[in-house]
Amino acid sequence: MAHIKLENLKKYYGKVKAVDDVNLDIKDNEFVVFLGPSGCGKTTTLRCIAGLEPVTDGSIYFNKKNVNRLEPADRNIAMVFQFYALYPHLNVQKNIIFPLKAEKMPMSEIKKKVKWVSELLKIDTLLGRKISELPDGDKQKVALARAIVRTPEVLLLDEPLSALDEKFREQMRIEFLRIQKALNVTTVYVTHDQREAMTLADRIVVMKDGKIIESGAPEKLYEEPENLFTGYFIGSPGMNFITCCPREDVSVKTETNEEIHFSKSFQSKARELKLDTFIFGIRPEYLYFKEKLNGEVNYLRVKLLNMERIQQISYGNFYLGDNLYKCMMRDGEDTGGNEGFVIFDDEKIRFYHPESGEIL
Ligand SMILES: Nc1ncnc2c1ncn2[C@@H]1O[C@H](COP(=O)(O)OP(=O)(O)OP(=O)(O)O)[C@@H](O)[C@H]1O
Ligand SMILES: [Mg+2]
Repeated sequence: MAHIKLENLKKYYGKVKAVDDVNLDIKDNEFVVFLGPSGCGKTTTLRCIAGLEPVTDGSIYFNKKNVNRLEPADRNIAMVFQFYALYPHLNVQKNIIFPLKAEKMPMSEIKKKVKWVSELLKIDTLLGRKISELPDGDKQKVALARAIVRTPEVLLLDEPLSALDEKFREQMRIEFLRIQKALNVTTVYVTHDQREAMTLADRIVVMKDGKIIESGAPEKLYEEPENLFTGYFIGSPGMNFITCCPREDVSVKTETNEEIHFSKSFQSKARELKLDTFIFGIRPEYLYFKEKLNGEVNYLRVKLLNMERIQQISYGNFYLGDNLYKCMMRDGEDTGGNEGFVIFDDEKIRFYHPESGEIL
């Protein structure tokens, strides 16, 4: 078990601030996922935790002990990468026991470990097979088996599924969850795939430009993103963001002058922000298309461009100015035409600052 703490962690490559003042506490046995676009510093942060990169500044603690100067081999970590670094000409068993032999573990002990790990990963029938004969998903299972056979305190995974095809990824996501819970190991998992992050994480750490934007439980980040970037990055389709301007005459207009009808309390809330513009964020599933109003207070008139189905859900697309937005179409409801209203619930709206992107 290990508690990890990153304190003002910085890693610069010349002028590139790959990790730029990161502070993070990772609890014992927690499954933390670093999520963010390419180049945001996920791998570099992970490599600093592993000890594969000397840090530019700041501290890394394992169980309150500063490990900045400890070699990777002395940190009791295991790492799995996107491309399994296995010995293709050796069989599965030989690959798995490689690190144990290096530690000079007695053969009787090694046998027990191999039995345990191969049953855990359900590769016990593959032990005699050559790596080069295995499908990619099984290769990655072997790489994981080799990583955890030493029962590390910390498991570090860098996009371990991204080279696999979709069918294997799905299966491996579920297996990862099962294995991590069975192992009781503090896990840091890097991905740019928000769906992977949503299924696996106890907590998602959203990164951008070497910084942590926000961290929290997947449902929390989905429902109440505190930053525009999180709302955009998490969820597929992502959140709708509409730039709004509160007006003197108490109305709220979009930048392109469509009126947004808010309840009275929301109109005053919008004016109290005392901003010329603010951003109104709402997830497509909380924005319903209706042809005719029926006493609703929160709505916006729209003209649908078209409809599409994403994972069995029907969405309507509409433009405001040059920006494309999505709303939900109720299944089975004949919309008749494409002009109507999108209705929303006060509770589901979030207001964001147009410059900082922070929630208001
Ligand atoms: N060894 C290096 N030398 C110079 N620059 C580097 C080095 N490693 C990473 N960088 C730079 O640091 C930044 C962060 O890179 P990093 O690999 O950590 O991003 P990432 O979030 O893992 O991205 P990806 O999703 O593409 O793997 C990038 O701008 C990258 O070009
Ligand atoms: Mg990376």
